[in-house]
Amino acid sequence: MKAIAQTEFGDADVLVMRELPDPPIALDQVLVEVRAAGVNPVDRLVRMGYVASTTPCHFPLIPGWDVAGVVRAVGPAVDGFAVGDEVFGYQRKDHVQHGTYAQLVAATERGLAHKPASLSFEEAGGLALTGLTALQALRKVGVSSGDTVLVHAAAGGVGHLAVQVARVLGASRVIGTASPRNHDFLRSLGVEPVSYGDALVNNVAELVGGDGKVDVAFDCVGGAALNDSPALVRDPARIVSIVDTNVLELGGRYAYAKPVRADLDWLAEQAGSGAVKVEVQQTFPLEQAADAHRLLEGRHVRGKVVLTV
Ligand SMILES: NC(=O)c1ccc[n+]([C@@H]2O[C@H](COP(=O)([O-])OP(=O)(O)OC[C@H]3O[C@@H](n4cnc5c(N)ncnc54)[C@H](OP(=O)(O)O)[C@@H]3O)[C@@H](O)[C@H]2O)c1
Repeated sequence: MKAIAQTEFGDADVLVMRELPDPPIALDQVLVEVRAAGVNPVDRLVRMGYVASTTPCHFPLIPGWDVAGVVRAVGPAVDGFAVGDEVFGYQRKDHVQHGTYAQLVAATERGLAHKPASLSFEEAGGLALTGLTALQALRKVGVSSGDTVLVHAAAGGVGHLAVQVARVLGASRVIGTASPRNHDFLRSLGVEPVSYGDALVNNVAELVGGDGKVDVAFDCVGGAALNDSPALVRDPARIVSIVDTNVLELGGRYAYAKPVRADLDWLAEQAGSGAVKVEVQQTFPLEQAADAHRLLEGRHVRGKVVLTV
């Protein structure tokens, strides 16, 4: 098969299209013909070697944890998937080597779900990692009926799904930080936009009125966004960060996306009904993975960047 594979850690130039053997498929795995692979900031961390201290990495290394495609074969122990099924999923495994920037991926069942028919492969390829992160993080801080939720970096990959998932979980108001050029986009998602920067705490207080506080703060940025959060929430236990474990010292929660089949099914249902929409800013053909990484590294993508295979 053809795949983007790196033989060393480094900048985007290490992402080179290569001919490689088809991936090995275990007895309980699903062989997926990849149609789309979402690009995520963590792919850059893998590429640079920054995750190697916590997760064993092996060369040639095919990056990518997000996938959408069609089932080509199933192992004899697989339940619930059949040849020809359209699927999407989050394929983070215990070792990093056989990722999704490829024509074929051997997928774990726990990180796979059926793709809703109404979703394109590109949209589905951008849904799993970010959607799971949003859902699992919001659940950690118990988002439910009547909550006012603030999402830092609401126009990004995780953020634009988090604002929509918060609504589905019952939040009555969702406020999102973004630069002004993204404010109309946030409004189109039912979000009250606010600019980030030095005046954030005051701007949020003015917007919410009353005691000037929100119930939940979801940090997708770190730095100032996290440091401002205690002043923004009524209870620090309802701050959740996906980027900075220092949130624990503030009394909040840290979330790291886990491949959970039931959560993927939940996302498929919401996306299939139109309650959650995946914004794809740009697609790149697989061979241009390096350009996709460079775009994401600019840190101002709206929604998702997705590779098409
Ligand atoms: N723990 C986990 O499981 C997990 C999972 C997924 C992601 N993450 C991490 O979470 C972070 C966000 O991921 P992502 O996929 O959402 O990234 P992303 O799509 O690249 O985020 C881009 C967005 O960030 C916004 N932004 C940039 N600087 C900002 C600032 N100072 N304040 C507020 N917004 C700002 C931009 O909005 P404007 O253009 O409007 O400025 C843009 O829309 C990354 O660090 C990633 O590694 C963690």
